[in-house]
Amino acid sequence: MIIAIDGPAGSGKSTIAREVATRFGFSKLDTGAMYRSVALSALQRGISLEDASATAQLARDIRITFGTENHGNVSVFVDGIDVSDAIRTPEVDRNVSAAAANPGVRAAMLDPQRRFAEGHDVVAEGRDIGTVVFPEAELKVFLTADPRERARRRVMQRHEGSEVDASVIEAEIEQTLADIERRDALDSKRETAPLTCADDAVRIDSTSHTIDEIVSMIEHLIAERR
Ligand code: C5P
Repeated sequence: MIIAIDGPAGSGKSTIAREVATRFGFSKLDTGAMYRSVALSALQRGISLEDASATAQLARDIRITFGTENHGNVSVFVDGIDVSDAIRTPEVDRNVSAAAANPGVRAAMLDPQRRFAEGHDVVAEGRDIGTVVFPEAELKVFLTADPRERARRRVMQRHEGSEVDASVIEAEIEQTLADIERRDALDSKRETAPLTCADDAVRIDSTSHTIDEIVSMIEHLIAERR
């Protein structure tokens, strides 16, 4: 069975995909990590993301692999080097949409993404899973949330367990909101495989729901389709 979870930045796709994968014993495929790996590799090698053919060649050349699951967290490797933290920096956040808008990069990612699902149950998260990567997925979820709430969750996640001044939190929420909206606009407006809700996807707005509530909704949807 394939479950596709698409949606904008910070809508909770990773958390929900991780919970669903753990609960049902599915493998989790984080396709965003793959585009992040391409952007990171280009930045590290001084390849301009505006150079479409060089970036596409890079995407074909590097080998992106995933480590074994550890409590639902999966490490990401580029040519054997662990990049799990390096792909989550603000610099990669700012550059990843340019890499992902490149049709040559997307073409290079498609095959490994589809191969990942061969022979086992997968929950895959991204922007074009239900529309392009796995249009035949048995369950498609389009996860959204109010942009300010998405920004707030991101910031609270970043400071989990530490005491931070409310004014600092507010300023970070404003900055994160601007970043999220910029990335969503780039991802939605690109020509190849834009972020969009598949016709047959179930839309879930997570703004006023807990993670457990959403996982329960997905649990029911899975049961209906089995
Ligand atoms: O999901 P995450 O925020 O890590 O994705 C990072 C970026 O990768 C997105 O903003 C988007 O530009 C790109 N992406 C994509 N298609 C996917 C997954 C991610 O274009 N299926």
